[in-house]
Amino acid sequence: MARTALVTGGSRGIGEAISKALKAEGMNVAATYAGNDEAAASFTAGTGIKTYKWNVADYEESKAGIARVEANLGPIDVVVANAGITRDAPFHRMTPEQWNQVIDTNLTGVFNTVHPVWPGMRERKFGRVIVISSINGQKGQFAQVNYAATKAGDLGIVKSLAQEGARAGITANAVCPGYIATEMVMAVPEKVRESIIGQIPAGRLGEPEEIARCVAFLASDDAGFINGSTISANGAQFFV
Ligand code: CAA
Ligand code: NAP
Repeated sequence: MARTALVTGGSRGIGEAISKALKAEGMNVAATYAGNDEAAASFTAGTGIKTYKWNVADYEESKAGIARVEANLGPIDVVVANAGITRDAPFHRMTPEQWNQVIDTNLTGVFNTVHPVWPGMRERKFGRVIVISSINGQKGQFAQVNYAATKAGDLGIVKSLAQEGARAGITANAVCPGYIATEMVMAVPEKVRESIIGQIPAGRLGEPEEIARCVAFLASDDAGFINGSTISANGAQFFV
């Protein structure tokens, strides 16, 4: 029977490519988004994948949204915690609001996304949890104390979940993309972006599809013994 997958932030950027890749693997896919109705409508028109709108930073909204997805598509077998934001500023200028927004969305958002689906995965003795971390969680980044903290936190989450879920047939893994050509990276001032590209041995930004293929593999039955791992896809910019 076809598996059901939930991709948060699945309407744009890396998440859009992930939603499409999982659909191409034969899964029933639900994609969520936060507020960009226009992008979500155009995504659904182009892919036939239904979108759901909720804020991953809110536990009750996430729980209710996930219940709606399961009522429509059936129990969630694969969950991809992809939704994320940046609020970059050098630490001396970072506001508590910028800190909290990023923690609430990128870190608590992962808890809010995985926690409601976890009991069902344990009962059914199958699950795939995939969290989209970042190269900047591995190496840190100027002006990203908040973001790097959340992305390093993702790695702690998957390593812990892997140990808890292994006997129940659940795997939990992270993908650490390098700089990928999405609106998030295009928001970096052009001069800074050009200097970042200069630090990537591949000489280019990555494509969202290059991350989506990692996710599709981790979601597959073939990846059942890969648990608590991180796949880095960064054009040789950084090695762990
Ligand atoms: N290392 C050391 N110093 C740096 C630096 C760096 N990487 N980047 C900037 N600085 C210094 C500048 O040289 C400058 O120093 P002076 O004042 O002595 O001249 C100072 O910091 C201010 O720099 P800007 O002129 O660029 O100041 P700004 O206020 O306009 O912007 C910034 C500062 C927010 C840090 C901006 O440079 C920026 O957006 N940088 C990119 C941060 C980044 O990589 N974000 C990643 C976003 S994409 C993403 O997060 C996805 C992912 O997971 C990979
Ligand atoms: P993006 O193009 O900005 O897309 C972000 C997606 O997340 C959108 O669908 C957005 O919804 C959704 N979203 C944001 N905040 C949300 C919230 N509070 N609740 C629900 N959905 C929310 O970002 P991206 O570049 O594809 O990044 C996707 C993930 O990869 C993020 O976790 C990011 O940190 C990570 N990552 C990106 C890069 C990169 O270079 N791009 C590198 C490493 C890691 P709306 O459309 O409604 O805004």
